[in-house]
Formats: sequence, C-alpha cells, structure tokens
Amino acid sequence: MRAFVVTKYKEPLREADVAEPIVGDRDVLVQVQAAGLNQLDEKIRLGEFKQILPYKLRLILGNDVAGTVIRVGAKVQGFKPSDEVYARPDKDRIGTFAERIAVAEGDLALKPATASMEEAGSLPLVALTAWQALVEQGNVQPGQRVLIHAGAGGVGSIAIQLAKHLGATVATTVSGPNADFVRDLGADTVIDYRTQDFEQLLAGYDLVLDSLGGENLEKSLRILKPGGKAIGISGPRTRRSHARPA
Ligand SMILES: NC(=O)c1ccc[n+]([C@@H]2O[C@H](COP(=O)([O-])OP(=O)(O)OC[C@H]3O[C@@H](n4cnc5c(N)ncnc54)[C@H](OP(=O)(O)O)[C@@H]3O)[C@@H](O)[C@H]2O)c1
Repeated sequence: MRAFVVTKYKEPLREADVAEPIVGDRDVLVQVQAAGLNQLDEKIRLGEFKQILPYKLRLILGNDVAGTVIRVGAKVQGFKPSDEVYARPDKDRIGTFAERIAVAEGDLALKPATASMEEAGSLPLVALTAWQALVEQGNVQPGQRVLIHAGAGGVGSIAIQLAKHLGATVATTVSGPNADFVRDLGADTVIDYRTQDFEQLLAGYDLVLDSLGGENLEKSLRILKPGGKAIGISGPRTRRSHARPA
C-alpha cells in the first residue's frame, strides 16, 4: 500500500510503498478516509520528540484517523466491517498517513453520524488533549473562569467549546481576524494578543490552558486566583503549575 513516511528527520515526507498492516487478534483494520495533520506530526518529523518518542525510521507518520472498518481480529467484539470509526492510535502504532492502518480495538470509537470523515479525522488528538487538560487535570466546574490561550488553534478551538459545555466562563487569546470565529465557538471574552496584554485585562481565574509556554505561561500564573491552576501543553513533559494555595 502507499503511505507518507519520514526517512530522515527534518526532511520532507516521502510517498512510498510499505507493507500492509499486521492485524492482531484485538486489532481493527481501517481503510483510512481522513487523517488530521497535527502539530505533533510536525514535531516528530523535525526530530524534536525523539528522546521521548524514539521512533525507528522509516516511519509512517500520522496520529489522527477516520475511516471504515475492513476487517477485525479474532477477539474483537465491538466493531465489524463497514463500521465508520475514528481514532488516535497508540503512540507506538502511529501511521495514519497511509491507505490502511491496524488500530487496537481499545483505541477506536464509532464515528459520530453527525461528523464528516474530515471532521472526525481532525478531532482525536486535539479533543483528547482538551479533555485531559480541562476535565482530567483541570476538573473544570460550572461557573469557573477559564482562560484558553490560542483559541483559534486546533486544541484551543475544541477547548473553548468543551469549557463552555462544562459551564465555565471563557476568555481566549487570538489574533484580531479570528475574533468572530472564537466568539461563535462560545468565548465570552476575546483578547487580541497582538494589541492587548491579557495580564492587564484578566484576574481571578480558576484555570489557564497554555499552549505557548515560556513567558506566556509565567504571565498566566499571575492572572490566577489563589489555588488556581495553569496547565501547559507546549512541551512533551507533564508539568503542573499552581498559584499559591488558597
Ligand atoms: N494539537 C494537539 O493535539 C496538541 C496536543 C498536545 C500539545 N499540543 C501543543 O499545543 C500547541 C498548540 O497546538 P495546536 O495544534 O492547537 O496549534 P495550531 O492549530 O497550529 O494553532 C496555533 C495557534 O496559536 C495561536 N497563537 C500564536 N501566537 C500566539 C500568542 N502569542 N498568543 C495566543 N495565541 C497565539 C495562533 O492564533 P491566531 O491564528 O489567532 O494568530 C494559532 O491559531 C503546540 O505547542 C502543540 O505542540 C498540541
């Protein structure tokens, strides 16, 4: 089958003939119909994550997928051929930039009927990231105030919608032309990071989701209320940042 592979870090992806995926007993073989291009793919291609994700090259790239089940392993119970599915495959079994991929049953979900293949293929990693940050780490509660940086980006645009769904009041930072886009997603306060300083405008926040790191994360700590949390997702390691305890 055909796939897009990394043969050498920093070089462009190449189209290549690769072996068909091996389908284990608990795997599902998916005909790929859409594969999201994620920031993580670019960081892997550049070799930036090779300490924590030591992939062997040549590597089929791609972390997000939507498609249709072709066949299932002998022990798979939750899926059958022709099911429409989406997934973020395990980090050790990435490779969605290919015609087909074998995904562990546990990493797969049925595609919502209301989402197109392209929409579903863009969702898994950004949506899991937003969920882990706001629900699992942040435990966002109704009425809380949440700042989501880079609200027009892949993670930010999902995080705004999730935070609103959880009942939070949401501020976000974007460049001016994206202001209407994030307001449509539900943002209550929109800050143009090119012309405004969020630190001067916001205070007493329960949680900040920061995808920029560095000075932006340091400034974010200063708009938190006592006991508030800043969750940084710009680097590979988990790092927890809290304002001083209440
Ligand atoms: N994508 C994932 O699943 C994922 C998972 C874990 C971690 N991360 C990390 O999260 C970060 C963002 O990823 P992404 O996929 O959401 O990126 P993305 O879709 O490329 O979006 C990046 C956004 O950053 C915004 N931005 C740039 N400078 C800014 C600033 N000074 N203040 C506020 N916003 C600014 C841009 O906003 P405008 O367009 O409005 O200018 C752009 O929309 C990356 O560091 C990535 O490694 C991503």
